[in-house]
Amino acid sequence: MGKGILTVEEEVKEIMGQLKNHMSLNRSMGLESPRLSPQARAYLDGGPSQPISLEDLREDIGDCRRCKLYQDRTTLVFGEGSSKARLVFVGEGPGREEDQVGRPFVGEAGRLLTKIIEAMGLSRESVYICNVVKCRPPKNRDPEGDEIESCLPFLKRQLNLIQPDVICALGRVAAQALLGKEFRITRERGKWQSFMDIPMMPTFHPAYLLRNPSAKREVWEDIQEIMRHLGMEVKRDG
Ligand code: URA
Repeated sequence: MGKGILTVEEEVKEIMGQLKNHMSLNRSMGLESPRLSPQARAYLDGGPSQPISLEDLREDIGDCRRCKLYQDRTTLVFGEGSSKARLVFVGEGPGREEDQVGRPFVGEAGRLLTKIIEAMGLSRESVYICNVVKCRPPKNRDPEGDEIESCLPFLKRQLNLIQPDVICALGRVAAQALLGKEFRITRERGKWQSFMDIPMMPTFHPAYLLRNPSAKREVWEDIQEIMRHLGMEVKRDG
C-alpha cells in the first residue's frame, strides 16, 4: 500500500522506527546514541501512556528481525488473552508447538498452565498469557541476553496497555529477565516482587512441574497468594 499522507500518529511511529534503527546501528558500530527526552525514551522502552492497542502493538512488531531468533522461528508468538486482564502470566519463550501454531503455552506445559488457571476459577480468555521472548529459541535453549533485551520493550508495552493488577512470572528465565540475574527461583519463588510497579509473583514453570510433580504444592501456594491479592475466593486444594 502506498504511504500517501500520514496521520500524526503514523508519522511519529515512522520517525521513532527510524530512530530505533539508527540507535541499533550506532550500537552495533560501538557509537554513542543521541540523548533522548524522557518522552522519547518512554516511547521506545514501552513507557507510560502510549495511546495504542495490543493489535497496534502486534502490528508494530511486524515480521520482527530485531534479534537472531527470527532465523529459526516459524511463527512469532505475541501473546493472547484479555486486554483487560487483571492477571498476566509471563513465560520464557515459545516452544516447538507454540512456534508451530503462533499461540503461547499450547504444548504439554501449556496444558498444565491451563489446568492451573481453571483451578483458580478463571479461563485462559480472562487472563493474559505471553512470554519474555516472542520467538522460539532454537532447540528450546534459554533466550540469550541480547534476545531478551530486544524483546523486553514489547513485553513492557503489553503490560503498559493491559495494566494488570498482578504479573505471575513462570520460571527462572522469566523471573531473571524481569528482576535481574541474581534472582534465585528456588529460594525466592512465592515472595512478592515488583516489575514496572506492578506486583509480581514468581513461581516455578509448568515444564518444571512436569519433571517435578511434587513442586505442584508450592506453585499452588503461590497461586493462592495471587488469588488473595486479587480478592478471589481461595480454595484449599488445586
Ligand atoms: N514455555 C514457555 O515458557 N512459553 C510458552 O509459550 C510455552 C512453553
